[in-house]
Amino acid sequence: MIPQSFIQDLLNRVDIVDVVGRYVQLKKGGANYMGLCPFHNEKSPSFTVSPTKQFYHCFGCGAHGTAIGFLIEYSGLGFVEAVKDLAQNVGMTVPDQDRLPPAQRAEVQAKSLALSDAMTQACDFYRQQLRGAQHAVAYLKGRGLTGEIAARFAMGYAPDGWDSLRQVFPNYDAPQLVEAGLLIEKGDDDGGPRKRYDRFRDRIMFPIRNTKGQVIGFGGRVLDGGEPKYLNSPETPLFQKGSELYGLFEARQAIREAGYALVTEGYMDVVALAQLGFPQAVATLGTACTPTHVQKLLRQTDQVIFSFDGDAAGRRAARRALDACLPHASDNKTLKFLFLPPEHDPDSYVREMGADAFEQQIRDAMPLSQFLLKEVTADTDLKTSEGRAKAQFDAKPMLQAMPPSALRLQIVRSLAQMTQTTPAEIEALFELAQPVARTKIAPPRTKRTPPMGLERQIIRLLVVHPALASELDQAAIDAIISLSPDNSAMLQQLIDTCRALGPQANFAALAQQLKMGNGDFDALIAEVAAEPESEIATSRLELAGAIRQTKMQLLKAEMDALAASGLGTEEARGRYRELFQQQEQLRRQAEVENVTR
Ligand code: GTP
Ligand code: MN
Repeated sequence: MIPQSFIQDLLNRVDIVDVVGRYVQLKKGGANYMGLCPFHNEKSPSFTVSPTKQFYHCFGCGAHGTAIGFLIEYSGLGFVEAVKDLAQNVGMTVPDQDRLPPAQRAEVQAKSLALSDAMTQACDFYRQQLRGAQHAVAYLKGRGLTGEIAARFAMGYAPDGWDSLRQVFPNYDAPQLVEAGLLIEKGDDDGGPRKRYDRFRDRIMFPIRNTKGQVIGFGGRVLDGGEPKYLNSPETPLFQKGSELYGLFEARQAIREAGYALVTEGYMDVVALAQLGFPQAVATLGTACTPTHVQKLLRQTDQVIFSFDGDAAGRRAARRALDACLPHASDNKTLKFLFLPPEHDPDSYVREMGADAFEQQIRDAMPLSQFLLKEVTADTDLKTSEGRAKAQFDAKPMLQAMPPSALRLQIVRSLAQMTQTTPAEIEALFELAQPVARTKIAPPRTKRTPPMGLERQIIRLLVVHPALASELDQAAIDAIISLSPDNSAMLQQLIDTCRALGPQANFAALAQQLKMGNGDFDALIAEVAAEPESEIATSRLELAGAIRQTKMQLLKAEMDALAASGLGTEEARGRYRELFQQQEQLRRQAEVENVTR
């Protein structure tokens, strides 16, 4: 069970435009983004994504939901998986409610915030230090970088002192500074005095950002020939090297425009390429490429091109990347590999040979199928039975790692031809036969007649701005509930849900919560999702007006009933006067509000 508060935090942090934008090409149109609906076939866009509501809605087929709902519908993930996926992208860890007591859960969240905060402050400090550091600026200029590009990547300089960060963090002993990897602590076990010092000293700083743009780690390069050449942040709760890519945040728009992502090995390659006309470049963090990296990139684009040095190390890295790609290789994705001459990396290649030559290298990059076949046949003599068997032996785990697809079939065919077997024999030998993947069909949407009049207005205002529910007093709630005996249970549920979400509640969080509850609010949510935005201040006034009218209606009904009974008793007359005064009071209130409005 994932706590509701976490879902709400998550929906506050995630941007649905990014989430949907990974799969659907979106264009800004007014306050919303528009695109072709991924849930039904259409030629002109009727699919909208609202950044303010954090909700998507299709005018064509009625599909709608939050970022979580989108991932569930689109990629067939389960609820928990979808939440985990989104959480990972924004650097949040899904609390395991079964294992963590609430106090500890809050602690985990507070810690992640504190770490994130420390990283941002350090990043700002390093940037500011770069301005005064002549030798660092000269180094970057010497490598051909402009100030503009350095600023774009928020590059900085860590001064050459043991505790420069004291200037930013007067509380240099704060535990999160070590946890964030900004400081190193020595000598605590053997009872000796603990000593803390800055991890990064006299280095060019490359901040590593997650896809939301939050700084989660650093790479630091020496300016001279010192060792190690690059120093990286350690893994922290914010920073996992196996799933983050350097430059992805900065490259996202360019990747969309270019139609592919270019994966390099170095930070410097990314920054230099961005300057030299290839802003679609990203880099792994000095580690091998993982399937998670590939998956992350394929969410942004259908084509990924890996660039490796032509030397032995580059080849090994390429092989690792190939392995990482296999589980994600499918017919609508293109994965390619390009090998530069041994002495070059992309940065040096473009500088020496020019952008056009590099562009040509990209065009000539080797498709995955070709690279795979090359790998398994490289050191084998296909003229011998042993050689052909060895090639098959090497290919087996790779083909098994691929999902069934037309592409895999093509590779099987080629391999069969090269090794003098038939595709059927290879499929049998490799145990490749598998049931065809089931395509996911969106469930039919239910229809429901919404309540009418005042009741309807109040419900809609609360759905659009659920935070307003927390501002209601008990008298207002009672009035709303008694407005319609038929729907009182539904109204109560709605108000309870809104109030449980608290004063920070927004439409997306409410929609997500109602979807998980047992009431049927689907049609209502869809309707509200399709409406233009409205300011909370306006809605607040409208709600106040609607509640006042509700109270008026209730007063009037009771007064009418009393009058009809003839007002025979003193008690009845007393009650009537009381009601009359309340009515007057409401009228005066209305006048005041109408004047101030
Ligand atoms: P320049 O030499 O400045 O052009 O850097 P580069 O980006 O071309 O780096 P290089 O090809 O030497 O290394 C590629 C990547 O491997 C770097 O971006 C780092 O992430 C990582 N790396 C390189 N050297 C080291 C090192 O000494 N230690 C660690 N941990 N990582 C390194
Ligand atoms: Mn380099």
